[in-house]
Formats: sequence, structure tokens, C-alpha cells
Amino acid sequence: MHARVAAATTAALLGGALLVLPTSGARAKTEGGTPVIVSHRGASAYAPENTLASIDKAAAMGFRWVENDVQRTKDGRLVVLHDASLARTTDVEQVYPGRAPWNVKDFTAAEIARLDAGSWFGSQYKGTRVPTLNQYMNRVSHNHQKLVLEIKNPELYPGIERQTLKLLSNDGWLDPAHLKSRLVVQSFSADSVRTVHDLRPAIKTAFLGTPSVAQLHEYAQFADQINSSYTTISSGYVAALHAFDGPHGRPVEIFTWTVNDADSARRVAHYDVDGVITNKPDVVREALQGR
Ligand code: G3P
Ligand code: CA
Repeated sequence: MHARVAAATTAALLGGALLVLPTSGARAKTEGGTPVIVSHRGASAYAPENTLASIDKAAAMGFRWVENDVQRTKDGRLVVLHDASLARTTDVEQVYPGRAPWNVKDFTAAEIARLDAGSWFGSQYKGTRVPTLNQYMNRVSHNHQKLVLEIKNPELYPGIERQTLKLLSNDGWLDPAHLKSRLVVQSFSADSVRTVHDLRPAIKTAFLGTPSVAQLHEYAQFADQINSSYTTISSGYVAALHAFDGPHGRPVEIFTWTVNDADSARRVAHYDVDGVITNKPDVVREALQGR
């Protein structure tokens, strides 16, 4: 075992104190620097999640990084929505009564385009639509933003990885400049992350979850990031992650989620996480300023 990995593994197993470890390559964030702030489903505390309004809100607040969730319609179009069902975040129950449980995969893109995805959040957002991924990418580009794209529920959508990469390629998001600093593709499914890595090894990938330290070597073969819930990590775990080199020869990173209060933001920053995914990017920014 590499000495850097062995030291960090020991620390993690001991529930250890923060280690300052030599690393063989540069991380996105310099060690001890301020973590990247990622607006979760857009600035979703302030605008309806996963809509163009939510990423416009993040942009207006000065945030470059946004996160989304990608799924597929009955007729094979990629759309941006978190839940498998349209019920929570649209008026689908009123527009299409009798079609419970209103799953994305059972509606065509044209049917979904009729839905109101804003009123549930606030009347000023009435008429906001569920964006197609193509519409979403155009807006991210327009806003000069960066994207953590989550492939959501991939087990429901065979082939969604290849389809998503094709759309990203067509939209110019797989050129060297975007790959270098503007895109991460993540999933809770290790198989899905591995598929993305195998299809386009140049893409920066992330596994959502908290594998054991003993498993990190395996995940580091195909994931540049391990993006864990902030409730599951420690300084020792973060040090253990950083001790592994990912598929691109740089230390594995962690963007932790979903951190919506100042104390938690300061705590995970102390752990030396690389990014903080949050519904309240302004709260995290203020907490981390002047640390
Ligand atoms: O980006 C992390 C986070 O989005 C994972 O959880 O359920 O909000 O997609 P979820
Ligand atoms: Ca997500």
C-alpha cells in the first residue's frame, strides 16, 4: 500500500484527527483553501428546484457551480427533475388526474412541457417549466456556469449514460475546456459512474455515497470524486479520500451535501472538503468568508 494511503487509512480507521499529507497532484481546491460552493438543484432554497429560474437565481447571486438531476421521458427525451414522480414539484395531478403515480418515464416530453413546475414553490414562479436537458445546458452556457450533472435513477433508464454524453457532446460540453473545469458527472449508481468513465474517460466523475475506506481503492479506478452526505464524513475520512489518486492521476476529491447551515459549512470546511453542495449558497459563502 502507498505510504500516503496507509497513513490516511490508519487515521480514518482511528476516527483520526486531520492529517496534512503530501499529495502527488493538484486538487481543484488548494489544501486548506475555501471549498467550491455548488448550488444544489440550482439555488433551490430561493427558486423552484431544477428549473431555469433556479440556475438564473444562482447566477444572480454570483454562483458559478450548479447541480441538477437528469431523467428520461416515455418518448426518450432527457429532462431535469429530481423525483421519479412529477407529483411533488409540478401540477401533474391536476393536469393528468388518473395517471398516478405520475412517473417521469410514463409521460412524453410534450405532456411534461405543459406542466407548471413553479407554482408549488411560489406564485411568482407560475408558468415555470420542467426544462429539457438541452434547454438546461443552453442556459448553463448562457450563464457561464459550471455543472455537476447527476444521472438520477439510472436503473429506470437503460442507456441513459450514453444518451446523456451524446447530448453533452452535441452541446459542446465535452470539449477540452469544458472537461477541464466545467463539468462533473455523478450518480448514486457505481455502475452508472463506471459506464460514464468507460465511455468517455476524460470526463470528471463522482460517486454519490460513502464507501468504506477499504473500498476506496476500487472506486478511485473510475471516480474522481466521492461525494458523500455531510452527516457521514469526518476529517479522517476526507484525508483518506485525498490519499488516493483518481483515474486522472489527481487526488480523489469530495463535494459534500446537502449543507444548509453555517455551523455545518464551517465544520466540513475544517475537514478540508473540496466542495460544498447546498440549497443556500449564500449562507455557505458567508460562513466560509474570513475563516
Ligand atoms: O449532489 C448531491 C445530492 O444531489 C444527492 O442527493 O437526492 O438531492 O439528488 P439528491
Ligand atoms: Ca442530485
